[in-house]
Amino acid sequence: MNNLRTPPAPANGRLGVLLPGLGAVATTFIAGVELARRGLGRPIGSLTQLGTIRLGKRTDGRTPRIAEFVPLSALDDLVFGAWDPIPDNAYDSAIEAGVLQRYEHIEPIADFLKTIVPMPAAFDRHYVKRLDGTNVKHGTSKRAWAEELREDIRRFRAENACERLVMVWCGSTEIFIRPGDAHRTMEAFEAAIDADDDAIAPSMLYAYAALMEGVPFANGAPNLSVDVPALVALATERGVPVAGKDFKTGQTLMKTIIAPGLKARMLGLDGWFSTNILGNRDGAVLDDPESFRTKEESKLSVLEYILQPELYPDLYKNYYHKVRINYYPPRGDAKEGWDNIDIRGWLDYPMQIKVDFLCRDSILAAPIVLDLALFLDLSSRAEMGGIQEWLSFYLKSPMHAEGLYPEHDLFIQQTKLKNTLRWMMGEEQITHLGLEYYTEESGIATGD
Ligand SMILES: NC(=O)c1ccc[n+]([C@@H]2O[C@H](COP(=O)([O-])OP(=O)(O)OC[C@H]3O[C@@H](n4cnc5c(N)ncnc54)[C@H](O)[C@@H]3O)[C@@H](O)[C@H]2O)c1
Repeated sequence: MNNLRTPPAPANGRLGVLLPGLGAVATTFIAGVELARRGLGRPIGSLTQLGTIRLGKRTDGRTPRIAEFVPLSALDDLVFGAWDPIPDNAYDSAIEAGVLQRYEHIEPIADFLKTIVPMPAAFDRHYVKRLDGTNVKHGTSKRAWAEELREDIRRFRAENACERLVMVWCGSTEIFIRPGDAHRTMEAFEAAIDADDDAIAPSMLYAYAALMEGVPFANGAPNLSVDVPALVALATERGVPVAGKDFKTGQTLMKTIIAPGLKARMLGLDGWFSTNILGNRDGAVLDDPESFRTKEESKLSVLEYILQPELYPDLYKNYYHKVRINYYPPRGDAKEGWDNIDIRGWLDYPMQIKVDFLCRDSILAAPIVLDLALFLDLSSRAEMGGIQEWLSFYLKSPMHAEGLYPEHDLFIQQTKLKNTLRWMMGEEQITHLGLEYYTEESGIATGD
């Protein structure tokens, strides 16, 4: 046992989950938690609810559920708040999103969903061109918006008697913004807010407000938001955990499952063509080239980091990688993603893999929101501030320390996540070396 750390404080009291963006993902998440609480649905896809963790040797027989091993908030202790420029409450928004079946999963909890009414959003069409909304904060002063968001957070905490809060950005993908001078230091960032600089997107103001109020922040979209040096420094200095960017669902989830397997077996890659059709509001926003650019950057970098062409030029030097997203309204949230993968084997013989994933994006994203919320809160009680790289498991473009490359391989990410939980609780790391099972003393290999 490694007893150098004090284990995280217990998860007493209510945990408020604040969601900028009350669209398909957020309502599917909220409804799912409420259905699970009432025994009307199962939280499939959530590690915090269903996962186990092995402790000690394989022969020890210690495999508790993660929720029993680390102190996590119970679903019954979660309360929800949101902001959205569209004034629909969670019931209307869930119906509009069309993810969940109305009579099976929305009507039975309608009363609850109707109580979640979005607060006026800090919203500017400059950053999300395909949206318009009436439920917005007045004026255009970024400083005033930041202050109002901080007030919203404080009010929500008091009105709902929350012990702790976390914030998960479930808002639309904003236009592509390159990190620049305004994002480099907190002084520059504060000055840019005061100057209403275009470099400060609304998602950054939510992140800033959260950090100033000591609230952990995760970013589920690919826009920069908290992933700028100034806000990372603020999070580190204040000991507030942050994670991002872009929930790892759908096609990218498949990529990070398949690509490490190809690399592990030293199979070459000539090309990977990915195309998607989707018809929800997210699809409409991504139909705008500027928002698509943000998403494209996030989706493209994954393969490069997993395959490491610089280390394996024979296999991966010149592969062709293309990602398309097409807005196709009839599909709604039931997206279809095709992948054509041209691979190369022994003596350069070409082969092909075709994947046709009829997935449901928000069904895959909702458990990620839950896990990020619970694990960020855990990090906070474990006094781990700044970037939580161990949560990369959930994210397409994981935030990482400067000068470090991000780890995209889902299975390395999973090992890292579980080892972090072991470390937090003073348990041994698991290396999978396992030689001890094959010694005389073990009595296993020798049949004793
Ligand atoms: N569904 C997935 O699998 C998945 C995966 C990765 C990333 N994402 C990202 O998660 C986000 C949410 O996805 P979704 O399918 O719920 O989209 P959605 O369009 O249904 O919901 C987004 C909501 O955010 C609101 N919004 C926009 N700007 C806002 C602002 N400044 N403040 C508050 N609210 C704002 C919109 O009005 C909308 O209701 C998107 O950015 C999407 O790209 C989703």
